[in-house]
Amino acid sequence: MSKVTVVGAGNVGATCANVLVTSQVADEVVLLDIKEGVSEGKAMDIMQAANILGLNSRLVGVTNDYSRTEGSDVVVITSGIPRKPGMTREELIGVNAGIVKSVTENVLAHSPNAIIVCVSNPMDTMTYLIHKVTKLPRNRIIGMGGALDSARFKYYLSVALNANINEVEGIVIGGHGDTTMIPLKRYAAYRGIPASSLLPAEQLDKVAADTMVGGATLTKLLGTSAWYAPGAAAAQVVAAVIGDQKKLLPCSALLEGEYGEKDLCIGVPCILGRNGIEKIVEFDLNDEEKALFAASAAAVHKTNSALA
Ligand code: NAI
Ligand code: 2OP
Repeated sequence: MSKVTVVGAGNVGATCANVLVTSQVADEVVLLDIKEGVSEGKAMDIMQAANILGLNSRLVGVTNDYSRTEGSDVVVITSGIPRKPGMTREELIGVNAGIVKSVTENVLAHSPNAIIVCVSNPMDTMTYLIHKVTKLPRNRIIGMGGALDSARFKYYLSVALNANINEVEGIVIGGHGDTTMIPLKRYAAYRGIPASSLLPAEQLDKVAADTMVGGATLTKLLGTSAWYAPGAAAAQVVAAVIGDQKKLLPCSALLEGEYGEKDLCIGVPCILGRNGIEKIVEFDLNDEEKALFAASAAAVHKTNSALA
């Protein structure tokens, strides 16, 4: 019997809950929001579709009643404000830090053994904040950003290569920010063939540049930040944990010397399984990639320093 709680029934949280139900990742999903009725309404709507689709997962919506989240195996935190066009993720820190801190304390009071997946932005800093507040072992706190950024990288790669989206490989490490993320062009591939041998350098550079501003592009188009891929990416992380998949996904993890960094959370390749982050994989970065990673880490440290 597996149980997942999603906090925040806004665009990303509700989408994540919907994917968890439609993919039958968990037996029971609880969707919690502070706004009266919203999570109940969205859960009911999703469950009415579950009936049409013949799904067996159960989803309930609750307004701020943490007792209903009792015994969750995984808790996904999406509560907080999203960015508007022209805003950076970093500008959300003031409001979201307070929300993420109180939500974390509430969920752990009822699910002391849960693995926490942080989605709220600025995500690397919010993940770090959760570490500071809870002092939990680092395997139990996973920041979701790299899974989404890598999905965007693969999307732009597939378009450039005119290839099936499931036959391309791409991984993004570093901070989850427009200027801090690092699409690893050298590791991008189509069916094992390096993308650098299939695309002119300028085109691969454009794929990487489009990936980095992928969130901003959507925010401009939609008037608020994206939710379909973010919600699906959060559910992908949950599925890897609940299903003990030993799946490699880039996630924001607390570093203790890996990649030459410590005392910060930043996107690195992680093996995810029932214990959360079971291993941090150290890719063999070249000098240019190492320099980009160091600059990204410095920027994340700077954002962290704004935490009260
Ligand atoms: P949204 O505004 O649609 O939903 C946020 C929800 O949080 C609202 O329903 C609000 O009522 C709820 N909320 C606020 N305070 C709460 C509290 N104390 N307890 C429970 N619920 C509370 O926003 P959206 O688009 O769902 O984005 C959510 C967060 O995720 C934002 O910070 C956004 O920047 C971030 N995000 C992160 C991504 C990532 O890859 N890490 C990708 C996309 C969004
Ligand atoms: C995104 O990448 C804004 O983090 C959000 O869509």
